[in-house]
Amino acid sequence: MDLGISGRTAIVCASSQGLGFACALALAEEGVSVVINGRNPNLLEKAADEIRRASSVTVTPVIADVSTARGQETLLAACPTPDILINNNGGPPFRDFHELDRQAMLNGVTSNMVAPIELIQKVIDPMAARGFGRIVNITSSSVKMPLAGLDLSSGARAGLTAFLAGVARTVAGKNVTINHLLPGKFDTQRLRSLFAATAAQTGEPVSALTAQATAAIPAQRFGTPKEFGQTCAFLCSVHASYITGQNILLDGGVYPAAF
Ligand SMILES: NC(=O)c1ccc[n+]([C@@H]2O[C@H](COP(=O)([O-])OP(=O)(O)OC[C@H]3O[C@@H](n4cnc5c(N)ncnc54)[C@H](OP(=O)(O)O)[C@@H]3O)[C@@H](O)[C@H]2O)c1
Repeated sequence: MDLGISGRTAIVCASSQGLGFACALALAEEGVSVVINGRNPNLLEKAADEIRRASSVTVTPVIADVSTARGQETLLAACPTPDILINNNGGPPFRDFHELDRQAMLNGVTSNMVAPIELIQKVIDPMAARGFGRIVNITSSSVKMPLAGLDLSSGARAGLTAFLAGVARTVAGKNVTINHLLPGKFDTQRLRSLFAATAAQTGEPVSALTAQATAAIPAQRFGTPKEFGQTCAFLCSVHASYITGQNILLDGGVYPAAF
């Protein structure tokens, strides 16, 4: 299927590895020039090389912390009027909610709610004026299904979802869509770090924890970043212009309800 977005431009935040990287790669393979981003320069350059090898588009790596005003300015300087914005960021560490002090909570809300909204504020009007825009926020299945220990992540991302529910309807008539991708368990560094942290806490081997987690997924496996990236690219396509304000779960069937 031709997604109809060749020649478009995208900013993909937090994309030097994992789910963000997979989204950038899938968009580049469809002919979209991408600004990719991360804080570690080596990781980012490696990601840029991989995307360049797989596509013929312009790939612009931007070293920046997307949670900060300065980081966002640097990203927008590289691509002031993107056609596509993929919001992503690191997630807060696994922590008992009793241990979260005020600053930790503010940091989590800044990273997973405020930063994506700030970027949307800066790109959405030019998108509407041009009559094309795609905004995809990478959130988490925990928006719909609680995960004790990731409460800050769940709360901030649910806040983002609710905040944007109204905004999405204000631009739908201008062919600008805002949707959310909700990953369950995907095989990335983030997931591996969570297993390592649990193993360190409980003394259980990582292999046992991985096997238990896999067994609890109806699909009997973790998701692959590639399939996540392909879903993102479809949401950014011309064919998805009637999908907006939606939460799309990619969890191998874990969420146990029909609605
Ligand atoms: N994987 C899963 O199963 C899963 C499930 C539910 C939700 N999620 C959420 O989905 C998002 C992506 O997860 P992932 O698994 O792809 O994580 P990952 O493999 O750890 O990759 C995170 C990426 O974000 C970059 N990054 C982190 N903080 C950043 C910042 N402040 N500014 C710019 N770049 C930043 C990292 O590069 P640098 O560190 O070099 O900056 C890296 O490229 C996270 O928010 C995660 O919580 C993931």
